Amino acid sequence: MEKAPLIAVFGAGSIGCYVGGRLAAAGARVRFIGRERMAKQVATEGLRLTDHLGADRRVPPGEVDYRTDPAALGDADLVLVTVKAGDTEAAAASVARYAPGKALVVSFQNGIGNEEILRRALPGRTVLGGMVPFNVVQLPGSTFKQASGGALDVEKSDALAPFLAAFEAAGLPLHQHAEFRPIQWGKLLLNLNNAISGLSALPLREELSQRAYRRCLALAQREALAAMKAAGIRPAKLTPLPPSLVPWLLELPDWLFLRLASNMLAIDPAARSSMIDALDSGRRTDVDWLNGEIVRLAERNGVPASVNRRLVELIHESVAGPRRRWSGDDLLRELRAAR
Ligand SMILES: NC(=O)c1ccc[n+]([C@@H]2O[C@H](COP(=O)([O-])OP(=O)(O)OC[C@H]3O[C@@H](n4cnc5c(N)ncnc54)[C@H](OP(=O)(O)O)[C@@H]3O)[C@@H](O)[C@H]2O)c1
Repeated sequence: MEKAPLIAVFGAGSIGCYVGGRLAAAGARVRFIGRERMAKQVATEGLRLTDHLGADRRVPPGEVDYRTDPAALGDADLVLVTVKAGDTEAAAASVARYAPGKALVVSFQNGIGNEEILRRALPGRTVLGGMVPFNVVQLPGSTFKQASGGALDVEKSDALAPFLAAFEAAGLPLHQHAEFRPIQWGKLLLNLNNAISGLSALPLREELSQRAYRRCLALAQREALAAMKAAGIRPAKLTPLPPSLVPWLLELPDWLFLRLASNMLAIDPAARSSMIDALDSGRRTDVDWLNGEIVRLAERNGVPASVNRRLVELIHESVAGPRRRWSGDDLLRELRAAR
């Protein structure tokens, strides 16, 4: 019998362990590549994949193929890149060196243009952009919980055909799109909240339930929308309202927001931005590829970006110095003063 294709997950942290774990739990051949810390954890605990709707799947320790040597990419048929944007160059170098030339590469990362970095390092190979719309939070016991809804998005390609059944079987069907960049810009607008959430140190639902934090996000999004307009970029609509109306919704008083936007708060109470985890553990954040991307876009197009610039600075200050937990009112004052 022909062997099932080997799916390698490069940079198996929260997203990599969750997506790869769901594929493995449904019977796909999956190899995780990541850090020693995670390798040790899954070697004793295996993987547990839960979600906000109550699903609970397990991959026992003996069945999790988790390696720390990138040479383990050697026989991959599909490589899912799930490192943070700042680690894409290094990941690209490992994929170029070790993965077979025929392997399809999909970037499941936030930010704009990770797939371009991979393409530059992998000439002649097929590289696709991808997007994970839901939040994944790591809980004790190698448990990775999908904390909100949404389907995996990916650039349309015939090269995906051999793998579609595995994603379907895992309950994570791939939604293919001919035009992918607008989706990345649409997701970036939502990810501008990561910095605000990181500075609040609050779970997402608690943070977004407070008008002052939502007003901070509205400021960042309005600035981003102006920069995108100046650059001729039309972000995709990823929420029930078009992107241009989301800041208006965010600014509503709590009682009205709760009534009109309950879907935005349909998040597990445990869900938190990975920015908080990065700040807690002193690891590098991806703020330079989120709010920082808006700063660069605005600069290129001669429009202001002082709110997003200040958010980038505040995250860098949190990494470098004492950690301040910003109240919504204080952060809003700080961002307004920056304008
Ligand atoms: N978490 C979410 O809810 C979520 C949701 C949607 C999209 N995303 C996006 O998905 C991507 C992954 O996010 P994440 O939360 O899964 O990040 P993460 O938990 O930090 O996972 C990435 C893992 O890759 C490891 N890594 C980095 N460079 C490596 C290398 N060269 N070789 C082996 N391992 C390497 C990291 O280790 P070190 O930290 O030790 O470097 C980390 O364990 C990001 O672009 C993020 O923005 C995340």
